[in-house]
Amino acid sequence: MTLPQPPKALPCHFVIFGATGDLSALKLLPALYHLEAGGRLPGGMSVIALGRRPWSEDDWRRHLEASVRKQAGDRFNARTYRRFAERFSYLAGDLHDPELYRALSEKLCADQSCVDTVFYLSIKPSDFGAVIKQLDLAGLNRPRGLHRIVVEKPFGEDIESARLLNRLLHEFFDEEQVYRIDHYLGKETVQNLVVFRFANTLIEPLWNRNYIDHVQISVAEQAGVSGRADYYDQSGALRDMLQNHLLQLLTLVAMEPPPALEADALRDEKVKVLRSIRPIAEQSIHAHAFRAQYGQGAIEGASVPGYQEEPGVSSHSIAETFVAAKFYVDNWRWRGVPFYLRTGKRLAQKLSLIAIRFRHPPQQLFRETPLEFIEPNWVLLSLQPSESMHIELHSKQPGLGMDTRTVRLNASYRQGREKTLDAYETLLLDIMEGDRSLFLRFDEVEWAWRVVDPILRQWTRQRDFIHTYPAGSWGPPEADRLFDKLEQAWRNQL
Ligand code: BG6
Repeated sequence: MTLPQPPKALPCHFVIFGATGDLSALKLLPALYHLEAGGRLPGGMSVIALGRRPWSEDDWRRHLEASVRKQAGDRFNARTYRRFAERFSYLAGDLHDPELYRALSEKLCADQSCVDTVFYLSIKPSDFGAVIKQLDLAGLNRPRGLHRIVVEKPFGEDIESARLLNRLLHEFFDEEQVYRIDHYLGKETVQNLVVFRFANTLIEPLWNRNYIDHVQISVAEQAGVSGRADYYDQSGALRDMLQNHLLQLLTLVAMEPPPALEADALRDEKVKVLRSIRPIAEQSIHAHAFRAQYGQGAIEGASVPGYQEEPGVSSHSIAETFVAAKFYVDNWRWRGVPFYLRTGKRLAQKLSLIAIRFRHPPQQLFRETPLEFIEPNWVLLSLQPSESMHIELHSKQPGLGMDTRTVRLNASYRQGREKTLDAYETLLLDIMEGDRSLFLRFDEVEWAWRVVDPILRQWTRQRDFIHTYPAGSWGPPEADRLFDKLEQAWRNQL
């Protein structure tokens, strides 16, 4: 979101814990490569990749090249890649073993060309605590104030563990050193939400309970659990997606205009939204939250296994791969407007969509004409894969009758050949430049846990049943029970 001119990236050591994992291969390494290609990595910067696999430097380089080639596609350039690969070295070891940290320390000390270090924890949340303590034991967090630590989401597993983790971090690092990532905040289309709302006088006066019937936020994925069963089976979609990405989107849709476009002013407004979300009483959870798990099915015509058949998943797992929830934001602007949130893996399409449905117009004028039953207006903000905005209006069809049709005002986010930036490119550069604007403050995380905690608690107790849906569908029809009105339905298409 915008931000005063950031300082230039400083030379640093960039240490990736979990460098051989999925996130690293899919996002971190390609994003670093693109920054290299754009000339944004500082000359003296080195990257130390840490992983459990007993790989040689050559094994690591093969993995690095394969990951970068795969994600960069035709943006891969052999010369840039050689320069990029030079920066890397690989250290194998167990995250819990002090020996790994001694070796890391030696490596860091051997290269005095730069002193400040970024520790990027791309590992299971359950390992965060161990790594933070080991960094301290090895003296790698000192001098205090200099290094940065990046923690991937989910930050904790519930409100209590999040508080504990935060306390632990603060024991060894100052808040200014801590970067809590929610990569959705690095997406340009997500940042565009603020511009769409507050730079358009046309939109903002309508953005409230007087005109809006309900809001839907959907993040649908076609991908399954991939190779992440180990983490995902403990986490489930509520922790993995809803507590962070979807609630962040909700806050940006619902917040009041901040007094200035500054990181803390924005965060203050987002926290106010989270604090205004009506807590869900234990006896109402059934009406407010729904979970399910994918079974065997087909994605784009190819048959895929069910969740319980995925490698590393137990055949009795009840981890949810689909979650839908309804929240109310009890403030003057939103009182009574339901926010329906939904996310799932192995759904029919990849689609991240914010769909705002407006109220019916006062109907007297159109009684007994076809307009009486017309679908109200929608504003659609598509975040991915299509990056676009649409407003649906109604217009009379040319001819004698009072027949109508829907007309759409369409706007693409990008024009012509404007380049797509991956969220991680933005975020990694911010980390190196010491700009924390797009990272979460702990109170945001804490209030978000407070919103989902009652659901988590009940689901943890009820372990004997979970709805299923065939892979490649839009999830079970039972999720419709969340809607307040019969005429409300999930919007699955742009
Ligand atoms: C991650 C989740 O945070 O976001 C993944 O851990 C999910 O499970 C991913 O697939 C989705 O991100 P994006 O950017 O592809 O929408």
